[in-house]
Amino acid sequence: MKKIINKGEKEMKIVVVKNSEEMSKKAGRLIGSQVIVKENCVLGLATGSTPIGTYQDMIAQYKEGVLDFSKVSVFNLDEYIGVTADNDQSYAYFMKENLFQHVNIDLAKTNIPSGMATDMEAECLAYEAKMKAAGGVDLQLLGIGNNGHIGFNEPDHNFSQRTHTVQLTESTIEANARFFKTKEEVPTMAVTMGIKTIMNARKVVLVATGKGKAQAIYGTVLGPIDPQVPSSILQLHKDTVLVIDEEAASLLPKEIWNTEV
Ligand code: GLP
Repeated sequence: MKKIINKGEKEMKIVVVKNSEEMSKKAGRLIGSQVIVKENCVLGLATGSTPIGTYQDMIAQYKEGVLDFSKVSVFNLDEYIGVTADNDQSYAYFMKENLFQHVNIDLAKTNIPSGMATDMEAECLAYEAKMKAAGGVDLQLLGIGNNGHIGFNEPDHNFSQRTHTVQLTESTIEANARFFKTKEEVPTMAVTMGIKTIMNARKVVLVATGKGKAQAIYGTVLGPIDPQVPSSILQLHKDTVLVIDEEAASLLPKEIWNTEV
């Protein structure tokens, strides 16, 4: 890969693939490599429709006998507030359905912030402390919202710091309504790792597909570093890989496809 802008230690690799299937394979193999290199690694995982194929690839690698998750720990990015873990709309349920129950991960090593805690502030602090005690996140998988949100860090006047609660924006509520029977059922609040938490991960892999994400991807790579596009902070991360399909990459100049910027 050719490096076109020298930003010192900071690097953002842009891997453009044909479609969602290729994206899933590529991201699944990147995460798989992390597990092979460090069997007791800490993975930061994400929900949303985009990473589902990535999880399927990780499951396939497990079934082939390539990956062993028994020593891996997981910290998920976020959860809805007011939704119990056994509710099929919760991110805890999503993770069980789409990954945990299909591999030999130790459920005691999987962590998702609780959106049901009576003291949410204490829950956020405890989540951060547990992550720190586990040695911090080695690899963080991220999806991205149409408005550039990562985790549930919505566009704001400042970049957020640590795990905290958030009010979801109208655009996110609308985007997530497709998973619910009615828009009214979509939770309006969530708990999420903060931007600083995400930036502390040693490696970040961001996945995106489709035209709807093209503007957010442009802002992530070439826009100003601005809390109105939370993902733009990744320009300051030292090891981020974007695995995106051609539609999501469509607003980026072709010269920077498959390069490091
Ligand atoms: C939610 C999640 C994000 C995710 C986003 C995009 O808001 N909190 O982590 O990136 O949805 O989801 P999708 O991949 O379905 O477009």
